[in-house]
Amino acid sequence: MNILILGSGGREHALAWAVMQNPKCDKLIVAPGNAGIAQIADCASFDIEDGGAVAGFAEENAIDFVIIGPEAPLAAGVADRLREAGLLVFGPSEAAAKLEASKSFTKEVCDAAKAPTAAYGHFTKAEAAKAHVREHGAPTVVKADGLAAGKGVIIAMTEEEAIAAIDDMFGGAFGGAGAEVVIEEFMEGEEASLFVLVDGEDVLAIGSAQDHKRVGEGDTGPNTGGMGAYSPAPVLSAEVEARAMEEIVKPTMRVMAERGMPYQGVLYAGLMVKDGQPRLVEYNVRFGDPECQVLMMRLGAQALDLMHAAAEGRLGEAQVNWGDDHAITVVMAAEGYPGSYQKGSEIKGLKALPEDSSNMVFHAGTKAENGKVLAAGGRVLNVTARGETLQEARDRVYAMVDGVDWPQGFFRRDIGWRALG
Ligand code: AMP
Ligand code: GLY
Repeated sequence: MNILILGSGGREHALAWAVMQNPKCDKLIVAPGNAGIAQIADCASFDIEDGGAVAGFAEENAIDFVIIGPEAPLAAGVADRLREAGLLVFGPSEAAAKLEASKSFTKEVCDAAKAPTAAYGHFTKAEAAKAHVREHGAPTVVKADGLAAGKGVIIAMTEEEAIAAIDDMFGGAFGGAGAEVVIEEFMEGEEASLFVLVDGEDVLAIGSAQDHKRVGEGDTGPNTGGMGAYSPAPVLSAEVEARAMEEIVKPTMRVMAERGMPYQGVLYAGLMVKDGQPRLVEYNVRFGDPECQVLMMRLGAQALDLMHAAAEGRLGEAQVNWGDDHAITVVMAAEGYPGSYQKGSEIKGLKALPEDSSNMVFHAGTKAENGKVLAAGGRVLNVTARGETLQEARDRVYAMVDGVDWPQGFFRRDIGWRALG
């Protein structure tokens, strides 16, 4: 099988790494890829949000299967264009991708599915939104309806903060994403993510994870795209996971199918768990980044078979072969991230690190230049390890992190603290 993966981050490096281990993969191309991906696959450069360009490239290169990594091409309808061209694709249609691209859409689908989630109001005018806040009080959560690169959510501890957030959003702070606003009940509990493959009809849970969104140790400081993750998430016990599947994932997938927009791809369910009851925080229509890195480390080559089964509508006969293992990934970021940071510093020491089925440095934002690896983004490396216990995985991962020679980078030393106690 000739495979094309779209994307350029650590998520796509991990997907490429897993896919390459499967003998069914004859040839792999990643577009646009990065310096780490270039070490294991061919990279190509074209506009991955232009469905026509992707379909043209896939046809020219005799691609049999396209895996779409990030949300932007999905929200832009790239999966639809590829299917129209007769290509096999892993990733939801533009209509189904609204589960990530519009928060009010998701809340309404959850209502129809009777899926447990935070109570909410949906507003197109600031005055009505403010009246809702005055009526319901704080703490509360103010969200820009559209895609805002993970920045469109304000947890307001006071009514004043909520009102200020509403003014910011309707004032254009998040561009078009903030033209509509959702205000939610603040949910307490422990957060975790559940990853589920869906083929339009059948669903298959493929693992759980917890990430660390804050930049600083002890979960302090500003939010980031994620500074590290581990899998499985202890809070998603078998019982809680079963409830999440029965009460949240399956009913919402049923509503999507009934509405003529069956979901196909990976569904990322962000959950809040309190007293054994999961409630939905959000859906994403892609693998999490860096959660994908720990999932791929645990699934290995079978990830390709599972994604292929989802794309071909064969999930009903698929199953996951679980190892009794744990994985952890530590993000190494450029000093200054998530604020402004410099690009171009050299990263040394990578060649001496182990690369096997339990140790891998996935590249998130790197560039190769004259035989050197240079930092080319905010999140730069995802150092990832697996072990029989989380502690073993953690010891391995930090031994690797300590082998990376990159003075301009930083990382959190406490990834996994909640699960390790
Ligand atoms: P989202 O982009 O919807 O995932 O929101 C980002 C983060 O804000 C989530 O991962 C949660 O930590 C937090 N959050 C979002 N909605 C709520 C809510 N209703 N109650 C509590 N925390 C929330
Ligand atoms: N790590 C969070 C996300 O991918 O959205």
